[in-house]
Amino acid sequence: MVDVYVTRRFYTEATMRLAAAGHTTEINDSSRIMSSSELIQKGKGKDALICLLNDRIDATFLDECPTLRIVANVAVGYDNIDVEGATERNVMVTNTPGVLTEAVADLTFALLLSAARRIPEGDRYIRAGEYKGWELMQPQVGVNVFGKTLGIVGMGRIGTAVARRAYFGFGMQILYTDPQPHSETEKEMGAERVDLETLLEQSDFVSLHAALTPQTYHIIGSAELNRMRKTAILVNVARGALVDEEALVRALKASQILGAAIDVYEREPEVHIGLSSATSFTALAPHLGSATRETRLKMAHMAVDNVLAALDGKTPPNLVNPDVKLGEKI
Ligand code: GLV
Repeated sequence: MVDVYVTRRFYTEATMRLAAAGHTTEINDSSRIMSSSELIQKGKGKDALICLLNDRIDATFLDECPTLRIVANVAVGYDNIDVEGATERNVMVTNTPGVLTEAVADLTFALLLSAARRIPEGDRYIRAGEYKGWELMQPQVGVNVFGKTLGIVGMGRIGTAVARRAYFGFGMQILYTDPQPHSETEKEMGAERVDLETLLEQSDFVSLHAALTPQTYHIIGSAELNRMRKTAILVNVARGALVDEEALVRALKASQILGAAIDVYEREPEVHIGLSSATSFTALAPHLGSATRETRLKMAHMAVDNVLAALDGKTPPNLVNPDVKLGEKI
């Protein structure tokens, strides 16, 4: 019998550790996202599932796969999983926090700089053979980043790592919103906790680092985009549905904001045509936040650590539903 199902191509170094511990493993060795029915078919009879952020683990899946003891998401976010439903059915849910913080913060800055300094536009210009030489008023003249104001929505691990880059590297003033005050960050970087309206009105760059929950769904919609400065750039490397993508497309078209630096989309892998056709001050990436070799490998190992602990009857190191009754599954 197979103990563990892995929903997508995976690092062999990590899956080998499952085998070494005596667990049989089946891997979907393709890069195709599985349909709900395929996922159910594969999850049936397994003890553990290692899944990705675009696998939907809902109540139907959990009901159809009652032998599962753990769902180990290879991501820090777990909005793809019905955690409450898992807890009710005594299924442990784990994620991979911490190891990706610096990589995601680097990508945030890479995209922010790309949009502000119009690097994708310059790249396309060069490749099209249009570059005819330096000019004072080149078509890709951008806006300064150094010394500007950065508004961070969600001062968790990643938001704080972004603030550090902004403050120490780029002399930026930091505004933030968060359910909790972060006094260390305020002391260390002069960060100021404000309400969302103030942040939107006073920031040159607005960067989203909140988890996607019913409370944060469409936290940036047309009213919020309207409040932003006409010279501001929106950065989203968190979750697509934090932003009403239709509203963002309208705001970009109407020059209500200057641009957007986007790594995540509301209906991934679909990208709104209005976004992919927006060019000026816009940088798009295909959900690359954690995508460095080192980080992705660490995430894979972390998911395996969680599975190994759970199958050994221990509390996994990154359990997100501590109310689950451990050991109550067959
Ligand atoms: C990536 O988006 C993650 O949540 O790890």
